[in-house]
Amino acid sequence: MFTRIDHVGVAVEEIEPALELYRDRLRLRVAHREVVADQGVEAVLLDVGENHVELLAPLDSGTPVGKFLAKRGPGLHHVAYLVDDVDATLAALREAGMPLIDEHARVGIRRSRVAFLHPRGMGGVLTEIVQPAADVAP
Ligand code: CO
Repeated sequence: MFTRIDHVGVAVEEIEPALELYRDRLRLRVAHREVVADQGVEAVLLDVGENHVELLAPLDSGTPVGKFLAKRGPGLHHVAYLVDDVDATLAALREAGMPLIDEHARVGIRRSRVAFLHPRGMGGVLTEIVQPAADVAP
């Protein structure tokens, strides 16, 4: 079901200072940058081998990441697992009784299809499953 970790999501107040850390000091390559309106974030994906760090800055304070920052401050936000088939994985997780935030997949960064599992079923870890678009390398 889960093939590997795709990325860790890191909540930041602003993208540029975070890029000074991840891109300039850690020398990670920026693979993609996008405003994901559906999730209320500006997101930047940086490559770490075949995995990624996903920086997430809220579009405004009322978005999920904006509320997260207000409550907990910047830091680790979620862990995302790569899956072959997000619909089949969601169905299997539902059947296993896992609490889901998203009953259906939605559009994520780079036209991926994503869904979030509730942290209460995951030991407190907000968890995302991600199926890349067919023409985008994971
Ligand atoms: Co993510």
